[in-house]
Amino acid sequence: MFAQEIKARTAARFIQQAAGDKRYKILEVHIKKFQHRQDALIEILHKAQELFGYLEDNVLRYLSWQLKLPASRVFGVATFYHFFTLKPQGEHTCVVCLGTACYVKGANEVLAAVEQRAGIKTGETTPDHKLSLLTARCIGACGIAPAVVYNGTVTPRQTPESALAQINQWLVP
Ligand code: FES
Repeated sequence: MFAQEIKARTAARFIQQAAGDKRYKILEVHIKKFQHRQDALIEILHKAQELFGYLEDNVLRYLSWQLKLPASRVFGVATFYHFFTLKPQGEHTCVVCLGTACYVKGANEVLAAVEQRAGIKTGETTPDHKLSLLTARCIGACGIAPAVVYNGTVTPRQTPESALAQINQWLVP
């Protein structure tokens, strides 16, 4: 009974975490495509990284819950392969969506402006560890393209100017 309660509470926590964030919905569709198969973990981790830019703690725990795998196994696989990034090293993160809808609306110009201002390329962190810049493919916000995720918040209709206004708050002039 007690174990069941814990399970129900865990499920409620993850459902709440995923609510309102379309990236989790897309991830769920992908998990279903693999029929929740535990041996599809690597493919699913790839999709998660594509959506979120990196594999944050909450996402890994969500996958452990969805696939009914021990968290240690999910974290183990995610840390074993060099192509998975667990945490950007910067204090702040900027994930530019480069999916088709965002791309045709100028996401590449947004990315170029951020790269130039911060002096880093995608996948890198500024030397002062203030900002990590990442890219993702379709994060499920095509209706508000081009979308950029600043510190985990999906932000609509970005332009080079609005992106610079945001990251300038984090970078030393
Ligand atoms: S392509 Fe960027 S949100 Fe869909």
